[in-house]
Amino acid sequence: MPERLKVLVVGGGGREHALVWKIAQSPLVEKIYCAPGNPGIAKSAELVDIKGTDIKALADFAEANSIGLTVVGPESPLIAGIVDEFESRGLKIFGPCKAAAALEGSKAFTKDILQENNIPTAAYAVFTKFDEAAAYVKEYFAFSCEPLVVKADGEAAGKGVYICEDEHCAIESLKTVMVDRAFGNSGNKVVVEEFLTGPEATIMGLVDGETLATLIPVQDYKRVFDNDEGPNTGSMGCYAPVPILTEDIRDFVAEEIMVPTLKALKRKGIIFKGVLYAGVILTEYGPKLLEYNCRFGDPETQVVMPLMESDLVEVMLAVIDGRLDEIEIKWYNKKAVCVVIASGGYPGDYDTGMPIDGLLDAESAGATVFHAGTKVLNGSIATGGGRVLGVTALGDNYEKAIGTAYTAADKIHFDKMHMRRDIGRRLL
Ligand code: AMP
Ligand code: GLY
Repeated sequence: MPERLKVLVVGGGGREHALVWKIAQSPLVEKIYCAPGNPGIAKSAELVDIKGTDIKALADFAEANSIGLTVVGPESPLIAGIVDEFESRGLKIFGPCKAAAALEGSKAFTKDILQENNIPTAAYAVFTKFDEAAAYVKEYFAFSCEPLVVKADGEAAGKGVYICEDEHCAIESLKTVMVDRAFGNSGNKVVVEEFLTGPEATIMGLVDGETLATLIPVQDYKRVFDNDEGPNTGSMGCYAPVPILTEDIRDFVAEEIMVPTLKALKRKGIIFKGVLYAGVILTEYGPKLLEYNCRFGDPETQVVMPLMESDLVEVMLAVIDGRLDEIEIKWYNKKAVCVVIASGGYPGDYDTGMPIDGLLDAESAGATVFHAGTKVLNGSIATGGGRVLGVTALGDNYEKAIGTAYTAADKIHFDKMHMRRDIGRRLL
């Protein structure tokens, strides 16, 4: 038996709770720290009061506490180069280096790689000047009545994408991004692209620099209300696996989209290690890539971790050491559903500090409750964010998983809480 490790998880949402929950089951682990974590994570990890973006302080902490493995949840530290800093100090860390994280950090960078390598994606143009972008969309809508998609190039916390039905919307979106600088330097460039239609799904893959191992596909629900109505959110729930993502489609996405991207990066001298998240849309002309993320999805991780039978720590160490080809990732033969419970008003303005009841009853009903935006207030758990909890249930079939997730979610109460009622319904 090798010496047991101390693990540091960076982040504090539902994704990190699911990662900590899974890491805590590993016999390879001696102790888990999480920075900054949340009250749900505090059940399995010691919380460390360092922000995910304070890379130097995190590396100092890892050095001082002999951390054997650091796992990064959110994109910001990866895009800012946390992996490069840790590796330069000889610290083991799971995630891509700064140059590879540009797959999420710059949509223009990614689109250029996709186009240069004939990888299926929406047709697009990149602009650095508002006037040129505006002239392009005017010309476009003079000849077409199909929508256009305007995207801020850089990080925008999931908010920098506008689906525009007409010229007015497109010009206003370009103004928001490029002139008003709603996302700061992320608006230095915009990508304007063709609107695609079809069902969407997430395929995450582990990459060790050489080998790609795809995880169970996930479908998430981005709109705030039932029947996909209302504005986009960080996600209101998800399920896995995804029946419409057949083995053939999965292979196509891996072999015709993800692997060629990784090879193209390599030709530029960039080695990707960690999780490559492919957001794909199944168009009538076949699957196309909508976006890459350079990390685990949230809430996708809240269904993938409970379905994974293998030891996550063993798998992550294999990724870091370039031994992914030597292991087989095993899965439980079950279905998983996660229902997100959000604060009323989310994704717009919402209040926090609402006391939460029924967390233990929800767990007794057979679900695992992951904390996303919670805090301790007067000694008890209260709401602390837009997405508050992720209630995940497993079942032998979708009906059972959905039934348990909603029975459990209905045990939970806080003022103005909101959840979708139709997560997974299309499977029944
Ligand atoms: P992204 O962050 O690029 O994945 O975009 C967020 C969401 O916007 C996606 O999940 C899609 O629902 C939608 N979207 C992005 N690009 C397109 C596109 N070219 N056509 C249709 N919908 C899109
Ligand atoms: N669920 C979408 C994301 O993690 O970006």
